[in-house]
Amino acid sequence: MVQKKLLIPGPTEVPVDILLQQTKPMISHRGSEYTALYTGIIDKVGKYFNTTQFSTVHTASGTIWMDIAGRNIVKKKALGCVNGSFSERMALTIRDCGKEVDMLNVDWGKAIKPEQVLERLASGGYDTVTVCQNETSTGVRSPVAEIGAAIKKEHPDVMFVVDAVSSAGGDLLEPDKLRTDILFTSTQKCFALPPGLSIGICTPAALQRAREVPGRGHYTDLIAIYDYYVKNKQNPTTPNISLLYALDYQLSRMIAETPQKRYERHAAMAEHTRKWGASHGIEMLPERGYESVTVSTMRNSLQKNIGDLNKELGKRGYMIANGYGKLKDVTFRIGHMGEWTLDEIKALLLNIDDIWGF
Ligand SMILES: Cc1ncc(COP(=O)(O)O)c(C=O)c1O
Repeated sequence: MVQKKLLIPGPTEVPVDILLQQTKPMISHRGSEYTALYTGIIDKVGKYFNTTQFSTVHTASGTIWMDIAGRNIVKKKALGCVNGSFSERMALTIRDCGKEVDMLNVDWGKAIKPEQVLERLASGGYDTVTVCQNETSTGVRSPVAEIGAAIKKEHPDVMFVVDAVSSAGGDLLEPDKLRTDILFTSTQKCFALPPGLSIGICTPAALQRAREVPGRGHYTDLIAIYDYYVKNKQNPTTPNISLLYALDYQLSRMIAETPQKRYERHAAMAEHTRKWGASHGIEMLPERGYESVTVSTMRNSLQKNIGDLNKELGKRGYMIANGYGKLKDVTFRIGHMGEWTLDEIKALLLNIDDIWGF
């Protein structure tokens, strides 16, 4: 198998030293060694995200948190802000959980704005708002801090659930500042780990809401997860211990790099990618000022065959991504997340220049 450099919006490259952490011997998930591992991880999550909110690591990919939100947080009716495939998935998942959802639909490529959310909330009847902070399909970064402040000022009882699957660990996100009630992410993106774990950070108000909501399921029962942690400092079901070794190790690396420096590294990669596009007449899909720092979604302005490009890139050891969902044929995406550096992005773009004959 030829190893390709994955410049796609996840899973992203996992450095070998992180991969190797998974070869440590298995331990009991009910023993003191595991308790030390897991509580250490939770401490590091709190440190990285600068919060004392309840944090938990679930053995499931990030989508589980859409089910958790639907089953634990939405009492009756949610406002699902939809500006791409993943925010749409969140709204549909809540509906699948048997709750009502109204969608605030904005054009794909546009961000969700606080005034749009407030306007819809004014009609009343919503107990939850969901937003995808970094829409991986469109490469749009919504102003979650402004949305959170607006919601909490006017509607303090409305829960604010934010998908940060493709941004947390790269973009600068502090749940206390964003005023989120649940902020969740997956570890195969900016955390540069293999897929299989997700992290959720929950306010006391979210936990209080969950206690009042029946039908929370089993694997998705936030209160069962919380109560078990408070009592035993472990998880209620068997976690993926191998991946947790890797997460523990990577969190130490991330803290050493610092959230600010990680953000700056991601922002520099995104800026360079946008400038490269502009210099070739390739337009960005996101509206200006709301571009993601972890994935650049570009219009296929030059009408190139992205499949052919990827084949050629593959021969040179690289891979980028096609558009996602209904944007498949009209956009392409360059993922610059996790442990990639500006030099790697420059090298990728030089290869594209060479293949396209610029
Ligand atoms: C913004 C966003 N939300 C949710 C998901 C789903 O996450 P997972 O595949 O970890 O379940 C993804 C995956 O790409 C995503 O990019």
